[in-house]
Amino acid sequence: MKNVLVTGGCGFIGSNFVRLLLDTTAVQVVILDKMTYAARKENLQDCWENPRLSLVVGDIGNQELVRHLVQSHNIDLIVNFAAETHVDQSILGPLVFTDTNVRGTQVLLEVAREFGLRFHHISTDEVYGHIPEGHQSIESDPLEPRSPYSASKAAADQLVQAYFITYDLPITITRGANNVGPYQFPEKVIPLFTTNALQDQPLPVYGDGLQMRDYAHVYDHCTGILKVLEKGQIGEVYNVGTGLEMTNLEMTQIVLDTLGKPQTLIRHVTDRPGHDRRYSMNVDKLRALGWEPRYQPKEAVAETVRWYRDNDWWWLPIRQGSFQAYYQKQYGERLKESQQA
Ligand code: TYD
Repeated sequence: MKNVLVTGGCGFIGSNFVRLLLDTTAVQVVILDKMTYAARKENLQDCWENPRLSLVVGDIGNQELVRHLVQSHNIDLIVNFAAETHVDQSILGPLVFTDTNVRGTQVLLEVAREFGLRFHHISTDEVYGHIPEGHQSIESDPLEPRSPYSASKAAADQLVQAYFITYDLPITITRGANNVGPYQFPEKVIPLFTTNALQDQPLPVYGDGLQMRDYAHVYDHCTGILKVLEKGQIGEVYNVGTGLEMTNLEMTQIVLDTLGKPQTLIRHVTDRPGHDRRYSMNVDKLRALGWEPRYQPKEAVAETVRWYRDNDWWWLPIRQGSFQAYYQKQYGERLKESQQA
């Protein structure tokens, strides 16, 4: 690993990973990012001066562009973070999820195959679908995605594995739990609830709020990916999370307690269609490579909430922009109904 192409490197997890690469390795990093609404140059504002980092704005689905980048930067590894990632957006408009997450990934695989590159793909625990109490997903479990988002991610995973089996492409895959941490776009639940609470606006909890998630810190996800790049076995999948879960109501309480805000901000609103009740992963396979998470979910959530409290320069402009139209579409009716109830 000398010259790394990081796709989606201006997004939430991608930008945290780029910073970790620059801080802890000597590699050259080229970011390819389409700069959709969820990508921001500010996520790496402390890194752009670094001569080992460069940014190309473009689409992973543009095969000629990807070929050109690989050749001109002598790329030996592609790490694919580029994706449409929000379940609610995938319910409102699913087609772009297939374009980017499935076709885009396959274009990258084609270029990796042409130039014989190592390929690492970022996936999600959502590909396993809803996990009943008492079970934790392991990497060999069947994929049972239930939203347009998770279905597109599962399709991509299977393409990546098919390129290993069919073409012997040196691939690895990591499946991350719900990530929290700095620079996450405020459509996701923790930055949404935190920034709402900071503005004394209601927190729209879907349904009964008893859904369970493993809220893992993005830092630990990124060190897990690096560990797989260094020590993972080619062709293998690794789960990355803490292995611990909490309910959304417990998470909401941590947000409120950390900010000293009242419970009266909580509103139960109409549930997300097809809402997965529980995700839970066994992460022993990654642990066996010598990786340990630094954060437990409770600390991860509280630390994230403090970051948003202290960094409104980052999120205030986002919330004042086109985000408002999305918020209205997603929550306008829901919140009205909840107030009438
Ligand atoms: P989210 O951050 O969208 O991640 P994912 O759907 O990928 O797990 O949501 C996390 C959990 O929070 C999920 O159970 C849905 C719930 N949620 C709400 O209750 N209200 C909200 O406004 C949002 C965005 C999510």
